Amino acid sequence: MFGENIFGAAGDSIVIEEFMRGEEASVFALCDGERYVTFAPAQDHKRIGDGDTGKNTGGMGAFAPARIVDSTLRARVKKEIIEPVLDGMKREGCPYAGFLYCGLMITDVGPKVVEFNCRLGDPETQVVLPLIDSDFAQLCFEAAERKLTVKNVSQKNETAVCIVMASGGYPDAYSSGKEIFGLDKFSGETQTVVFHAGTKFSGDKVVTAGGRVLGVTAIGENKNLGETINSAYDAIKKISFDGEYHRTDVGQKGLKYETR
Ligand code: GLY
Repeated sequence: MFGENIFGAAGDSIVIEEFMRGEEASVFALCDGERYVTFAPAQDHKRIGDGDTGKNTGGMGAFAPARIVDSTLRARVKKEIIEPVLDGMKREGCPYAGFLYCGLMITDVGPKVVEFNCRLGDPETQVVLPLIDSDFAQLCFEAAERKLTVKNVSQKNETAVCIVMASGGYPDAYSSGKEIFGLDKFSGETQTVVFHAGTKFSGDKVVTAGGRVLGVTAIGENKNLGETINSAYDAIKKISFDGEYHRTDVGQKGLKYETR
């Protein structure tokens, strides 16, 4: 970083932080400056390679609900993280309304904050939104108007798994403009959603136009994570483009909690 100046001016100084060991999880709160609601916790897969190896990416897949954030942990995240942040911001005269993305490390001593963002996460959103059984637009409206009336978002008793289909080479150099085949196979599908990320039209064809090209989400009608993982991998078999790359272990880290 210093020797070769690989980050340019952004690498002129560094911050040394506590190393946190554990699994990462994302919890989203929708806040109106005072009140808030949370959604199903999710887990992202940040590294490019299976087994969480290789370079960091924007996220190569996600699943929700994240079993590691059980009801006890969820209560701790609210009490120890979300509520102090909202109280503190209100006290400082800038009450926070909007989405609060809590990027967490679940350590041996409990949840710790890796980062906050004032947005939802990608690809976590692709597994969190399909599980909401409340009127999402109404929730956003109430938060924006600073008058959230709902205390708990109603959640479907389902599981969602999203696999990111990426351009080969990502997160380093990759080619674009590759025709994407198979998108038509999902019309009328209710349990699979193909989210477009790095795509564009070229004439009447859809072609790749980014590193992370598609997020393919399968929604399992029961809470069985293993079955939903299989449905997501079956879905991506129907789609192809030259150089396509995806992780083959999305969701696996959640399976060890299945019997909880
Ligand atoms: N999935 C990571 C992020 O949205 O920042």
